[in-house]
Order: sequence, then structure tokens, then C-alpha cells
Amino acid sequence: DTGHFTYDPGFGSTASTKSAITYIDGDQGVLMYRGYPIEQLAEKSSFVEVAYLLLHGELPNKTQFSAFENEITHHTMMHESHKNFFQGFHHDAHPMAMLAASVASLSAFYHDDLNVDNPEDRKLAAIRLIAKMPTIAAACYRYSIGWPFRYPRNNLEYVTRFLHMMFEVPSEPLELSPVCAKALDLLFILHADHEQNASTSTVRLVGSTGANPYASIAAGITALWGPAHGGANEAVLKMLEEIGSPDNVETAVKRAKDKNDNFRLMGFGHRVYKNFDPRAKIIREMCHKVLAEMGVNDPLLDVAMKLEEAALKDDYFVERKLYPNVDFYSGIIYKALGIPTEMFTVMFAIARTAGWIAHWIEQHETPGSRIGRPRQLYVGAAQRDYASIDKR
Ligand code: SDX
Repeated sequence: DTGHFTYDPGFGSTASTKSAITYIDGDQGVLMYRGYPIEQLAEKSSFVEVAYLLLHGELPNKTQFSAFENEITHHTMMHESHKNFFQGFHHDAHPMAMLAASVASLSAFYHDDLNVDNPEDRKLAAIRLIAKMPTIAAACYRYSIGWPFRYPRNNLEYVTRFLHMMFEVPSEPLELSPVCAKALDLLFILHADHEQNASTSTVRLVGSTGANPYASIAAGITALWGPAHGGANEAVLKMLEEIGSPDNVETAVKRAKDKNDNFRLMGFGHRVYKNFDPRAKIIREMCHKVLAEMGVNDPLLDVAMKLEEAALKDDYFVERKLYPNVDFYSGIIYKALGIPTEMFTVMFAIARTAGWIAHWIEQHETPGSRIGRPRQLYVGAAQRDYASIDKR
């Protein structure tokens, strides 16, 4: 009895958490948000519409969508004094450190609306977080390069507004290729939720104590940062740059198999998917399309493709069912969009905020939800008596 909900979903394994938000079948490579296959959402939906779906359980009609979009648009600003927060960081602070601290500090700005038992307060927190993450993320970037912050422009849609806050300079209008916003919107859809991954489980565990939504999401951001999780997209780019050329791929695969070498193929493997990560398939196709449409010829794409080909026919990877995951190709697209490597996991966090807050709310709305209290298997010393220091 760990205080977690335990039930047998009927196929022999037991799950520790019950949720109606996302379904994954790791063997079949299936991913669905509220019953909709990720392939259909990727092709036909938008990130804001997917955020509505994750939060409300249904796709919105026109009235619901425009009301939701309007609410988000009118909560994108940071509190003006929040901008001072950044002055405490050295300019080369990692954006994920600034993001986690900034999101946690939202608790200080919105403490009046923090009654986690009030559904209206929970809904407002969801809107605020989804709306402000791009503004805070862009501020982290602008601060790190010494550029002035840009205010969110309400006449722009969600992703374009973010790109403007990231890249617009006062001295000239921003020329944005339409490919950029579409590609980023699709990446946000693919990263929006993923069942009980490490960062979502962190949000649920922190939220189960009654902690406010901003503190809970900040905990998720720090969990996501790890290179085994969301930090992998940044690690993939560094790995591809280290490999440098398709000619070095065989050596990289050899190193990844050598237990004495802690070189891992970042962007490969997954705890749940023992088949292709369906998101990786979509992102791989998109990678070729985006680079072609933007006229970008990135040699790292050749390295990635050669690495994927070599690994997928190598017994070590085949036996362990290690396939490319969501992080393997996404960094190449972010790079083509002009997003710096250390901002890649921040992109992941912007998108995953929709899933995190949907899970945080679902847990509050689930009758009988209790504080999470994982137990352990004790493997330490048996009982013994204290000995004074002169007898040790
Ligand atoms: C994400 O959970 C989610 O849903 C996460 C996520 C989401 O949307 O929230 O999908 C996002 O985090 C994707 C994963 C991104 N991380 C990486 O790409 C980092 C590289 N991958 C690995 O660190 C690893 O594959 C994990 C962390 C993803 C999964 O780890 P597991 O399930 O604990 O697997 P494991 O470490 O037990 O590995 C099993 C075997 C081991 O070899 P043996 O002990 O059997 O000899 O496979 C080997 C591992 O050494 N292995 C790898 C490898 N991944 C696993 N060997 C080389 N390169 C790799 N990438």
C-alpha cells in the first residue's frame, strides 16, 4: 500500500498510476492523446488545440477553441518585476536553470490564485503556464545573448509569437519562413505528453503533496533536464558533432557497445518503446522536409542517418530493441530553425507543460487521490547497538 492507485490493466502487468490522458503501446509503437493517434494529430491539429485536448479530454469546437486561444493570448505577459529575476543569473547560466527557477517563482506572483482545491484556480494556472512558458523561455534566451526582452504580440498565433520573442530585434522586422512555425508547432505536438515519464511522474508526485502548480511544474522541468530524459536532444547534437563525419560512425557504434566506455548513443533506446518511437518516425520525415524547404544542408543529418542505419543492423541494438527515440532527430530541426543547442530542452519543456499540467489537474480531480509515497526494499544493516567513538 504505497498510497498510489494500483490496478491491473488486464494484460498481466500492474500500473502504479491510473490516467485517461495518454496511451502508449511500446511493442506496437502506438501513442495516442485522449484516444487520438499521434500521427493524425501531427498531420491535422495544432499545439494549442492539442493542449486543449489534453486538458479537457475532447477536441474543441470553434467557440471553445477561440475562447481557449484568447485566454492564452491574454496571459502571455510576465509580471514586469519578473524580468529583474534574470539579473541574478550570470549571462552564461544554462537556460534550463533559469527556466526552472523562473517558473517556480510564478508561485510568488500568483499566490492569491493558488487554492489547488478550486477548479477555477487550477484552470487559471493551466492557462497561465501554457501561455507564459514561451515568454519565459524566450527571456532566458535573450538574457543569455544580452539582447533586450521582447513583449509577446497578441496579433500572432502561439508558435509565431514565440519565434518573434526569440529572434526579433528592434532594428529590423523579423523575416520568418512559414516553414519554421509549422515545424515547431509539429514538434510541440509530438512532445506535448507521454504518459508517466520521469518528469510527468515528478509533477504528479510533487502535486500529490498539495504543492502549487508552479512549484510542481518547476519540479518537472528539473527532472526533464537530465540527459537520460529531455536533456537527450541537446546531448544528441553534441554526440553528432563529436562523431563529426559518417566515416566515424562505425567507431561510435563500437564505443556504444563497449561497457568500459560510457559513450551511449544518445537519442537511442526507450524504457517503453521496444519498437520505433512513433514520434521519431514523424520527426525523421519532417527533418528531411524542413531542411529541404529551408535550403539547409546540415552534414549532421548525414551522420545521423548513417548512425541510425548502422545501429539498426547491429546485433547489440537489435537484441536490446534500441531504436531512435523522439530526441534523435529533433535537435537537427531545432538547429535549422536557428535555436541554439542549450535551448533544445527548453523547447521540450514548453511543449510538455501542456501534458504536465493536464496530469497535475487530473490527479486533483481523481477521487481518492492521496499523497504519493513510494516504498522501498530495505537492503541495509540489521538492527545493532550504538558504540561510543572510543570503541569503534
Ligand atoms: C525521453 O519515458 C518517456 O516516455 C521519456 C520520453 C518522453 O517523451 O517523456 O520518451 C522522452 O526521455 C526519451 C529518451 C531520451 N534519452 C536518451 O536518448 C538517452 C539514451 N538512452 C538511454 O539512456 C536509455 O535507452 C534510456 C534511458 C532511454 C532507457 O533506459 P532503460 O530503459 O533503463 O534501458 P537500460 O539503460 O536498462 O538499457 C538496457 C540495455 C543496457 O545494456 P545491457 O545492460 O542489457 O547490456 O540497453 C543498453 C544498456 O546499456 N542501452 C544502450 C542505450 N540505451 C540502452 N546502449 C547504448 N546506447 C544507448 N542509447
